Amino acid sequence: MTRLQPRLVWTALMMSLAMYSISTSAQAATNIHFDPATKVFRIDAGEVTYAFGVNNADELQPVFWGAQIASEDSLPAAVTMQEAASFDSSYTTTLNEYAGWGGGLFVEPALKVSYPDGNRDLILHYVSHTIKSDELTVLLKDVDRDLYVELHYVLDDATGILGRSAVILNKTKAPVVIEDAAAGTWSLPRGTDYTLRYLTGRWAGEWNLQQQPIRPGETVLESKRGSTGHQNNPWFAIERGAQTDEDSGDVWFGALAWSGSWRITVEQDQLQQVRVTGGFNPFDFGYKLMPGDKLSTPVFYGGYSHHGIGGASRLLHRFELTKIVPQAPNPKPRPIIYNSWEATGFNVDEAGQESLAEKAASIGVERFIMDDGWFGQRKDDHAGLGDWYVNPKKFPQGLKPLIEKVHSLGMDFGLWVEPEMVNPDSDLYRKHPDWVLNFTGRPRSEGRNQLVLNLARKDVRDYVFGFLDDLLSHNQIAFLKWDYNRNWSEPGWPAVAPDEQRQVYVEYVRNLYGILRELRAKHPNVEIESCSGGGGRVDLGILGLTDEVWPSDNTDPFDRLSIQDGFTYAYTPGVMMAWVTDSPNWVNNRTVSLTYRFLSSMQGSLGVGANLDHWTPADFATAKELVAAYKGIQDTVQHGSLYRLISPRDGSEQSVTESVSLDKKQGVLFTFLHSSTMGYPFPRAFLRGLDPERTYRVSSVAGTLAKGTPVTATGSYWMSHGVDVELRGDFQAAAFRFDAAE
Ligand code: GLA
Repeated sequence: MTRLQPRLVWTALMMSLAMYSISTSAQAATNIHFDPATKVFRIDAGEVTYAFGVNNADELQPVFWGAQIASEDSLPAAVTMQEAASFDSSYTTTLNEYAGWGGGLFVEPALKVSYPDGNRDLILHYVSHTIKSDELTVLLKDVDRDLYVELHYVLDDATGILGRSAVILNKTKAPVVIEDAAAGTWSLPRGTDYTLRYLTGRWAGEWNLQQQPIRPGETVLESKRGSTGHQNNPWFAIERGAQTDEDSGDVWFGALAWSGSWRITVEQDQLQQVRVTGGFNPFDFGYKLMPGDKLSTPVFYGGYSHHGIGGASRLLHRFELTKIVPQAPNPKPRPIIYNSWEATGFNVDEAGQESLAEKAASIGVERFIMDDGWFGQRKDDHAGLGDWYVNPKKFPQGLKPLIEKVHSLGMDFGLWVEPEMVNPDSDLYRKHPDWVLNFTGRPRSEGRNQLVLNLARKDVRDYVFGFLDDLLSHNQIAFLKWDYNRNWSEPGWPAVAPDEQRQVYVEYVRNLYGILRELRAKHPNVEIESCSGGGGRVDLGILGLTDEVWPSDNTDPFDRLSIQDGFTYAYTPGVMMAWVTDSPNWVNNRTVSLTYRFLSSMQGSLGVGANLDHWTPADFATAKELVAAYKGIQDTVQHGSLYRLISPRDGSEQSVTESVSLDKKQGVLFTFLHSSTMGYPFPRAFLRGLDPERTYRVSSVAGTLAKGTPVTATGSYWMSHGVDVELRGDFQAAAFRFDAAE
């Protein structure tokens, strides 16, 4: 292995510092500092300090990540570990911000490459850096070859969340194959008392929170599916010690902004150090980087909270609403929607949809969405995907009459599309069988009778953009539900050279993002939902380009409590759509009251998906009342701070959440009971996050409080004394609002 002599390294470093000399005034204006004496970079943001240094081997070595350190305290210089044994080199035991695979590295590398001459060794050394107000860029270079990596650190001062990504630049004269590229590695303070939380699921069973101690070895969270996937979500949280709970203790967390195959590894190494590496999934990966070209990794966001897992999710929610979603920093509340899917399935037509629209408007719905079935020869899921013309039998005069009707009822209009897919039984496939992902001469596996269009191809990209642009240009559509109902199989791209085909993992997603970006720019008032058979494509990448997501096709209101609970560990209720559907629900054949169904959905962004043609006048009256009540708490639920008071997980008999508006003028309490046993009353709910000094008046959204509960009391009272809710029976629910007196 070639290593530069320390003296040479130091000289190079001083030269590069001179090149990138930063004036003191520029430094003072930012929260990013470089200390030339210790060679430590220090980033202070929110309540967090993040630091790494250029160590004596000239590598970038993590120094600290945790609660903010006082500015007068300086952080120690980074020093490599001694060789622990001949089996464990210093390079493998020393923490590394971005380790190239080479030099005897046995932990997960951030980058692994192979050169045409067979060399696969990569050791990255510090070259230089630049600091702009909220961004630090560090340039690394291989010790020998002209392979460069730019590491980007973008900080969010309000939440302390850092966005890390890497750009790999091939300045050699030959192509280099990138076999594995992470956005970065996060390292935690040395310790053995960490607990990992992550999210798993499947179709109609997403957002299960898992919890396990971190032990020596590696846990892999990933998708090899070509898209984010239901099975794992690209989010993690790590708690330290046994004392952590919802609102106290150290929690480190992170989420990847990528909607293709991804991987996050959490490993405890030989010296009990915990490292979290995330980026593209190296499985079946191989990106051929031509001379002069560069590859940008996804962004891996990471944060720290001293206020438990609840504090961590509140930081993420705030960050998503103010920095990630397209309407950030002040997203409009999600309107109350009606969606036709569970009511009509594929059997949509003008008269049926208009009748549903009238009924939806009567309860206060603000957006009417026609789901699947309106296009091509779509009678069921066997045909039509790819043919995006309006079905003339179902809508003889196109969509215009329905859209006008919806507008006349005071709602805007939304439409379901599944742009990336094609049924073999479609005009599009008959014309362009080569447009799908496939390996020449091999069978093409179908999922829900459909194939995946290869969006990496320019002609496919142009077709998809073209039909969507056309649809939006010729119809007054305010919203698209963008669905994606299967994962990849046979991910071949026969039109390009064999050694370029694996680029599909990157180019597909880039083109998806490109289409979304271009559509939004051309049709700035159109909002978009990311749906993938429910929650199969929810991540910070797609959330940067879509306004909301569909967490699950499972609309059972009881199952939804834990689905929503799991979802909110990583994502804000402000993007979490939740529909009231029919009872008994198709998933579990469970019957619950309409009020229970509404309250379950009112924990997120409310929608209705029931067959309104079957509702009684009493149902309409209840719905109207609850929709109106929701409008009074909508902003608090969607954009406020969420407190999980009693989790519905692990067979809990109860579930209680509370949302508090940012100005603390309103708190909203939701309580759910699975079933009373032995006559026990419902446990007292202790509110959180209110202003202790202010007086709040409690009122019922639905349900009653125990006799003797005061109507007004201070925030301090509601938080210390708590409230008793009258809930008895099976599948009961109640909700209350606490409004600050003016
Ligand atoms: C997916 C979605 C559903 C519905 C159907 C339509 O399953 O998740 O909400 O839109 O497709 O085919």
